[in-house]
Amino acid sequence: IDKWLQTKELTWYPELRDYTFDVACSLLISIDNASQTKLASYFETWVKGLFSLAINLPWTSFGKALKCRKEMLQEIEKIIVNRQQQPKHQNDALGILLEAKDEEGNSLTLEELKDQILLLLFAGHETLTSAISSFSLLMAQHPEILEKVRKEQENLNITEDITSENLKEMPYLEQVLKEVLRLIPPVGGGFRKVIQEFEFEGYRIPKDWTVQYQIAQTHQESDTFPNYQTFDPERFSPENMVDKQKRFGYVPFGGGLRECLGKEFARLEMKIFASLLVRKCHWELLPDQNLEMINIPSPRPSDGLKVKIF
Ligand code: HEM
Repeated sequence: IDKWLQTKELTWYPELRDYTFDVACSLLISIDNASQTKLASYFETWVKGLFSLAINLPWTSFGKALKCRKEMLQEIEKIIVNRQQQPKHQNDALGILLEAKDEEGNSLTLEELKDQILLLLFAGHETLTSAISSFSLLMAQHPEILEKVRKEQENLNITEDITSENLKEMPYLEQVLKEVLRLIPPVGGGFRKVIQEFEFEGYRIPKDWTVQYQIAQTHQESDTFPNYQTFDPERFSPENMVDKQKRFGYVPFGGGLRECLGKEFARLEMKIFASLLVRKCHWELLPDQNLEMINIPSPRPSDGLKVKIF
């Protein structure tokens, strides 16, 4: 934030992505400042090609993504092998995976470890970048709500690092963050295999089909979310608690057995980020920018969210 304050005007989205990538790499694989390494640029190219036409040529985004995936896996392999040679494992996600054993005492293979780390690094920062950038955007667009968030933070009188006690005392910020994830969910949806034939609104869905649940559309159900286009954190107030009204009615993190593994990690990081940002600075949207959302792979404003920070 101090760095941003010095720049005064900036395109925020790439900066926010560096920030979440640094947090993810430091907590998951104990690598600091990863956003400044090759790993970050490989990731960017890989993500660009994740949802593209599967034509593997050197100049297509899919081809470039495949090449970068290979490079990333090589980098990740170096990190893992290096860690395997150290006597004591660090207390991070990789450390847990290195020590994990199944019922028969088998550890994960190198290929499995590489795959898991790549998945965690992707899931652990791409979605969060979208979430905190949507928070920043929506706060700039709703100053009256931001004011209430600021008041709540001021009343906490946090002078040093945030404590876990402080984090429990931010109910209004929690409401706001829930509404951010309702209105602009970072993930589009998820796939499920039909295990038993069923009927839905007159359509017969056969066994073994793959179906997709859509998160943004679920969050637009007008029975549950009247005026669904409106950004309104009061939906999640203790009186309304709209997220508790209907099973699978509010699903930013998916639902059921395959619900997001990093849900609490994500909620924590969003809260700490929002609290720091609101206490340390003010920001405004710069004029003449395209705020239309690009939705793939995760929602973000077309021009990357240009702001003035002070
Ligand atoms: C605001 C941030 C995040 C959102 C909105 C989000 C959303 C989701 C959603 C909707 C799914 C379920 C997809 C499905 O139904 O198939 C999912 C799965 C998953 N997420 Fe997240 N996620 C976030 C952050 C994170 C973080 C920080 C991590 C890891 C540190 C993470 C790790 C995972 C993993 C590993 C899965 C797969 C779980 C499984 O298949 O069992 N996510 N996430």
